[in-house]
Amino acid sequence: MAKEVVLSGIRPTGFLHLGNYFGAMRNYVRMQDEFDCYFFVANWHALTTHPDTQTLKAAVHRVIAENIACGLDPEKVCLYVQSDVPEIAELYLYLNTLAYKGELEKTTTFKDKSRQQPENINAGLLTYPVLQAADILIHRAVKVPVGKDQEQHLEMARTFAERFNHRYGDVLPLPYAFNYGGELTKILSLDGIGKMSKSENQLATLYLADEDDVIRKKIMKAKTDAGPSEPNSVKPDYIQNLFTLMNIVSTADTLEKFNADFNNSSSGNCIIRYGDMKKQLAEDMVQFIKPIRTKAADLQQNKELLEKIIQHGAQKARVSASATLQIVRKAILG
Ligand code: ADP
Ligand code: TRP
Repeated sequence: MAKEVVLSGIRPTGFLHLGNYFGAMRNYVRMQDEFDCYFFVANWHALTTHPDTQTLKAAVHRVIAENIACGLDPEKVCLYVQSDVPEIAELYLYLNTLAYKGELEKTTTFKDKSRQQPENINAGLLTYPVLQAADILIHRAVKVPVGKDQEQHLEMARTFAERFNHRYGDVLPLPYAFNYGGELTKILSLDGIGKMSKSENQLATLYLADEDDVIRKKIMKAKTDAGPSEPNSVKPDYIQNLFTLMNIVSTADTLEKFNADFNNSSSGNCIIRYGDMKKQLAEDMVQFIKPIRTKAADLQQNKELLEKIIQHGAQKARVSASATLQIVRKAILG
């Protein structure tokens, strides 16, 4: 039986961070052995918010290098750059006729970005979810590993695919957001305000390129409080976030110890020492990030190799994309 098709993309708009890793890349790496995977750098999408392209090429290389450093194997998966696959743009055009202005204007990311860049509310920003649907549907992907912030875009991609099928015949399979374990992930920023992000909240976001001392400093500054007032309390989200990070980079014993300390704490009997917890987390995080940072930095020096990987990916992506486009054209244009 043919393997299910998986697709996901990351915008080259800054340094990759732990949110990208846990929301997206960690799943990519696990999925590469099980599925027919396509992962790409969404450089067209970046233009909707980052029109200055002076550093774009380097940012594309960095995303590719960081993905490989995290464990993606460009021989196993198709790793490519969006702008190398013009078939996506044609599918975007067709899908644009199936997307309504009202629903696009209501999209959370459009409203957020319009607030952030009131001087540049461009049509690309409005139709961002349509381009994202084209990215997915061009390979007829069904599983899309993404973080929680992308849930709405995935619902929209399904809606556009359903409308397409309703109007032109059953051509496009419906895609779903995916995360191992079911729940989509959101890694909060270390100050507890919003999510870790490439461009906002940089002092409270852990980047895969951060030096050891920077990692330590950021974690030691992470928001905590005086401790729980009752045993077995529900953890506030910024505390839960530290446990989530610990769950990923520390040993099961370490996590268990601090979890037990938290659960046994109450006001007047605070057993959990957040300072110790952060110190431990910082050291484990340094050990986790260091090899990724080093490997990604080495790869970024080797532009020839990166270009070869990108070309190889483009060829493979275009085979799949043109096959879909042929079916799409026939369904629409006859
Ligand atoms: P950013 O929002 O930092 O610019 P992207 O929009 O390029 O990053 O997101 C790339 C992938 O990383 C998407 O699948 C997105 O859902 C995921 N992601 C981004 N930030 C987080 C976060 N803080 N927690 C979990 N997943 C995230
Ligand atoms: N919009 C996604 C983000 O900001 C990036 C992206 C573009 C994407 N096209 C995609 C993700 C297709 C999954 C599938 O994170």
